Amino acid sequence: MSGEVQREPLIEVENLYVYFYTYAGVVKAIEDVSFTIYKGETFCLVGETGCGKTVVSRTLTNIVPPPGRIVKGKVIYHRDGEEVNIIKLSEEELRNIRGREIAYIIQDPSAALDPLYVVGYQIAETMVDHGTVKDFKEGFGRAVRLLKEVLIPDPERRVKAYPHELSGGMRQRVVISMGLSNEPKLLIADEPTSYLDVTVQAQVLDLLRELKRKKGLTVLLITHDMGVVAEMCERVAVLYAGNIVEVAPVDELFKRPKHPYTVGLLRAVPNPLTEIEKLESIPGTVPNLIKPPSGCRFHPRCPHATEKCRREKPPLIRVGPSHYVRCWLYAGRGEEVAKSE
Ligand SMILES: Nc1ncnc2c1ncn2[C@@H]1O[C@H](COP(=O)(O)OP(=O)(O)O)[C@@H](O)[C@H]1O
Ligand SMILES: [Mg+2]
Repeated sequence: MSGEVQREPLIEVENLYVYFYTYAGVVKAIEDVSFTIYKGETFCLVGETGCGKTVVSRTLTNIVPPPGRIVKGKVIYHRDGEEVNIIKLSEEELRNIRGREIAYIIQDPSAALDPLYVVGYQIAETMVDHGTVKDFKEGFGRAVRLLKEVLIPDPERRVKAYPHELSGGMRQRVVISMGLSNEPKLLIADEPTSYLDVTVQAQVLDLLRELKRKKGLTVLLITHDMGVVAEMCERVAVLYAGNIVEVAPVDELFKRPKHPYTVGLLRAVPNPLTEIEKLESIPGTVPNLIKPPSGCRFHPRCPHATEKCRREKPPLIRVGPSHYVRCWLYAGRGEEVAKSE
């Protein structure tokens, strides 16, 4: 598209496959997933629980837990003008990247914080570990500033608080401050608000948006909530049962959703952009991925499924300038491509 800014990639996930080798069988959790995260954007992965969002995000620092294994694919990290494949790095090299260059905020703030230590100690520790500060004394000083940055009132006092002395929203702010403590290039936030009540959710999202703007952060935001997508993201990838079914800029996705799964997700939430009034849920559930459905993995739940959808995996089709969909409905209505943006 003319006039479009040249975008610089930070992370390129290419043709990724992740399987879990369980006693019950091989769980084909992620298959043929490719996407790019550009510097300075908030990129969103959305899909129902069990679709593979967390597993995909964990490949970015190569921490897929056993019995999971990355069986194929690349995660290219553009590191100061150099391209490194995260999957090929040694544990030692990865330690320098995890928590420092690529930081991760997990869903449950309680699990990220140790109940036995004051929060200042825990924030300082992440900085000491990575050599961002020389000792705990300096780390505590920095922790106070970080708590201020995430808008925790009275940070000089709160830095000495134990996690249980803080509210859920404040604990999540502490976790965010830990994520930011080493000034990462990429912040991965995995459902950062799902454990919080609605008003606190909005505050934490506001904070993330403000921090992103102020620090020029690149963010990978993971959510099952299309409302959060609309509020936070520039581009979105929709994940269904381990496949990316659609990628588009956020306003394009809300105005012209193409994949029947995306349409279903949008019908299931109050849509702030199109104001569809009637809420519906998508019938059925995410399938068992030991024996995933043949052809298009969404076909058992899809109102438009045909014999072809049951038999053959659909190609990825470019239906607009930055809009890609993996669905037979659009065959012949755009160019078939190997990889989305
Ligand atoms: N430790 C594990 N063992 C077996 N399967 C797993 C494991 N962790 C995740 N999976 C499978 O990977 C798929 C994706 O899970 P996940 O990434 O956690 O989904 P989401 O974050 O979208 O809710 C699921 O089908 C799940 O069953
Ligand atoms: Mg998850």
